[in-house]
Amino acid sequence: MSGNTSQLQVGDKTVDMAIKKGSVGPAVIDIAKLYAQTGMFTYDPGFTSTASCESHITYIDGDKGVLLYRGYPIEQLAEHGDFLETCYLLLEGELPTAAQKADFDYRITRHTMVHEQMARFFQGFRRDAHPMAVMVASIGAMSAFYHDSTDISDPHQRMIASMRMIAKVPTLAAMAYKYSIGQPFVYPLNSLDYTSNFLRMCFAVPAEEYKVNPVLSRALDRIFILHADHEQNASTSTVRLAGSSGANPFACIAAGTACLWGPAHGGANEAALKMLEEIGSVDNIPKYIAKAKDKNDPFRLMGFGHRVYKNYDPRAKIMQKTTHEVLNELGIKDDPLLDVAVELERIALSDEYFIEKKLYPNIDFYSGITLKAMGFPTSMFTVLFAVARTVGWIAQWKEMIEDPSQKIGRPRQLYTGSPQRDYLPIGRR
Ligand code: CMC
Repeated sequence: MSGNTSQLQVGDKTVDMAIKKGSVGPAVIDIAKLYAQTGMFTYDPGFTSTASCESHITYIDGDKGVLLYRGYPIEQLAEHGDFLETCYLLLEGELPTAAQKADFDYRITRHTMVHEQMARFFQGFRRDAHPMAVMVASIGAMSAFYHDSTDISDPHQRMIASMRMIAKVPTLAAMAYKYSIGQPFVYPLNSLDYTSNFLRMCFAVPAEEYKVNPVLSRALDRIFILHADHEQNASTSTVRLAGSSGANPFACIAAGTACLWGPAHGGANEAALKMLEEIGSVDNIPKYIAKAKDKNDPFRLMGFGHRVYKNYDPRAKIMQKTTHEVLNELGIKDDPLLDVAVELERIALSDEYFIEKKLYPNIDFYSGITLKAMGFPTSMFTVLFAVARTVGWIAQWKEMIEDPSQKIGRPRQLYTGSPQRDYLPIGRR
């Protein structure tokens, strides 16, 4: 390997491959011509060593536990900013000026209502449908309601679609919740900020006045900031892959939402809380630690471990602080789940198995306790993740569409199935 190129020896051929350096983080070896030059593909299940794209949006240093949005540390954004400011930053690349922020907030706020026919669309779901099932369907259905912003070659339509999704996904999320508990939908209220409006749409009822608790609103806003983007994770890669075919943005974000639902990804916050409930008391922790370490037991400690972070997830630290703030505000002094979580974290962080495998708490470990205390049922946890991640998906999709070198994503494979063989009539098999 020299400064700008690396060589790969394949049989008697030596192939030169350019090394590309980013602004920070590991360089990459450009293998785009490898197949043409050697007739071979690379093999990397789970893409553990593959950079799928060039991006300017989010940077993670998993060994140091660093997360930057457009260069700004997540800790600073969560401490000083608000979610819509983070949205602007992710989409536009810079923090907004006061005038830009006011304009952006105004435009998002004016897009929060959904087509009235959407309410009818919701009536088709069973009341006991998982709200993530409803989210996947209703976000996808937006392309049937907003035809005038599905032409991806038109920058104005791309911008309108982006605004619509950031503004309307919380409305759909609140509707999914209200529908599941049999309460009437609550229309957005433009005088409220983004997160307060969302809380009101979830928890207000027509029979009485709803007062937003500013501490809870601030805490949820911070949770949204923490979840807004996370580099090329599974759901974001899904959005990019779906978008690479030219699919409309609503369809792409619906695809990302479907991917997020899985328990190894966005579904982990729901799974983590269920696990804490199952453990139930501090006395049971050793049994569950032993299960997690047992190779023959599929059980894993949910909320622990991360593909990229091999250090404390920086989001988990902020989340832990937020959890305490919310519980204090609500006067929850002795939450048995919090006791289990704190002790589980302590034991796991001092256990050889977890130390050696670099398994630290991730963001989902504490978020479930916080969301539960706020009044959200577990089935809504991943929905809240989707509300926050929508902007990250959109920023990544937009970056891809605007990249002149963009082409359809088409991975190859190592085929290990049967070689060619002849069809046998049914009587001769
Ligand atoms: N509990 C017990 N053992 C674990 C855990 C865990 N939570 N996570 C990983 N391991 C072990 C695993 O068994 C393996 O052991 P060995 O080397 O002996 O086979 C080793 O650690 C490496 O695991 P891996 O599955 O190869 O690692 P990965 O990078 O593919 O998986 C992960 C990352 C997040 C899927 C995994 O750690 C996990 O399943 N964690 C629990 C689910 C969870 O909390 N997910 C939320 C991720 S953060 C939110 C988000 O960004 O979406």
